[in-house]
Amino acid sequence: MAAPPDLFSPARYDAVRRNREKAETLPAWCYTDDEWFQRETAKIFRPAWHFVDLDTSLPEPGTFLTTTLLGESVIVIRDREGGVRGFRNSCRHRGAELLGESQGSCRAIRCPYHSWTYDLDGTLLMAPGTETEYARSALGNLGLNLTPVPCASRHGMIYVNVSPKPPVPLDVYLGDYPERVAAPYQVSRMVCVRRLSYDLATNWKLYCEVEMETLHTKHIHRRSIGEQPVTAATTQGEWIAVVNTDQPTPALYPGSRSKGFPRTPGIYGPAEEGTYFSTVLPGSFIVTAPDCMWWIRKIPTAPGRLHTEVGYCFPRETVARPDFAELAEAYNARWDQVMDEDNQIVEVQYRGLRSSVPGCYTAEEPVVHRFDNWVLDRVLDEESP
Ligand code: FES
Ligand SMILES: [Fe+2]
Repeated sequence: MAAPPDLFSPARYDAVRRNREKAETLPAWCYTDDEWFQRETAKIFRPAWHFVDLDTSLPEPGTFLTTTLLGESVIVIRDREGGVRGFRNSCRHRGAELLGESQGSCRAIRCPYHSWTYDLDGTLLMAPGTETEYARSALGNLGLNLTPVPCASRHGMIYVNVSPKPPVPLDVYLGDYPERVAAPYQVSRMVCVRRLSYDLATNWKLYCEVEMETLHTKHIHRRSIGEQPVTAATTQGEWIAVVNTDQPTPALYPGSRSKGFPRTPGIYGPAEEGTYFSTVLPGSFIVTAPDCMWWIRKIPTAPGRLHTEVGYCFPRETVARPDFAELAEAYNARWDQVMDEDNQIVEVQYRGLRSSVPGCYTAEEPVVHRFDNWVLDRVLDEESP
């Protein structure tokens, strides 16, 4: 279905705005249209705070990771005082990429081109070619330090914003997520032990939607997950979640769930009762379970192109066990199967969408409806007075 000329007119989407029981799903063009995608990039992805990784992934000063957000490469690095800092991964001399690896460690950031060198706080330390007085004063006047990118951590999780001045402060953006989920699940004890990435022919929202409903688990995951009853969480801030409380861990196959690692030391409150399947909006799916956690970060590059970055994590006490590698194999097998099942179905759905007309949300998909309306809230034009 082709996108209409009044693509962003609120009146076009009245049917999606109805109560869930009577609502229609988003029209197909919201997933396939390039203009719609550009609007999402500007109104959703650019102002957002994005979860990037765990604090424990940068254990020492100089340890860093790089990630690409909205087509721009960003460095996240541990400074000498123990803080996290973000910088554009681009030299202030003539723009070369500074750090080419996705993870690593350095004593200073040295450009591979003409060896301009920056301290861990971004200060330019050495600039070969600027030795003359004229060049030095020009350098002083221009202050050619690395360009900062807003970056901070909360309860063990690092977030980045690619707007120089984020329109919403991080703590307002996250709302009650850090205290309600990251703290009780002891995310600051978690260590990422396995990273994978995928490139998929689908729209980023389809992936967010499948993560927020349980209707599909008894169909496409019938052997890997089976029934997984969830309730929708009431959340404050830019996150949504569903919660499961009827099993010790969702990260093992049915039948072997009692044979997992012990619970994370120190967990309390909701973490003792089950698993939060959360999305820090727009696209960071973060599962915190009593024994482990994992994430799927969505990095869309076009309406129908999605890159995902996946991290699997256990508490450091679990990772230190002599039998860790052996027992973790059962987790990896279950994780890989479910990942393949979800990756396949969101591509199947994307192929079918082009010829679709709006459908409906069942009683097991209320958070999908909530998510789609969250997108509309940000993308549509203001109502005319
Ligand atoms: S571009 Fe980095 S030193 Fe020249
Ligand atoms: Fe799934």
